[in-house]
Amino acid sequence: MILALLFACASKETGHTGEHTGTPPAGGDPVAGEAIYSSTCAGCHGADGTLGTDIGGVPATDLTFSVPITTDDNLKMIMKDGIGNMPAQLSDDTEIEDTLAYLRQQFP
Ligand code: HEC
Repeated sequence: MILALLFACASKETGHTGEHTGTPPAGGDPVAGEAIYSSTCAGCHGADGTLGTDIGGVPATDLTFSVPITTDDNLKMIMKDGIGNMPAQLSDDTEIEDTLAYLRQQFP
């Protein structure tokens, strides 16, 4: 897992020239993820993550605070299944990986 992350970082710096053969999608595409975030998440969380739209009395969590302290696995679960007053959002694994990559880039 650590090796996969290092590989993902290295390939990002070299501009995705390497092939990801046999590597699970540890490195989603943050550009695709940005489009998904804008259409799927920004309505409640805002483009900058701090909008905090009220959903049934619970404000959408400030992502600048919560993303850095949440693991990849939990972020994926939150996008897939929802959490508390947040409804489930995404079912496609590639879209989830891409959005995760964008979250990590945007809210480090
Ligand atoms: C319909 C409004 C809505 C949409 C759309 C939405 N969220 Fe949320 N989100 C919320 C609310 C409300 C909470 C607070 C949930 C709670 O604590 O009950 C939340 C919480 C979160 C949290 C913090 C969870 C925790 O407690 O650790 C993360 C991370 C998150 N959302 C990410 C996303 C992402 C990524 C997307 C897009 C794929 C998204 N949200 C789309 C409303 C939304």
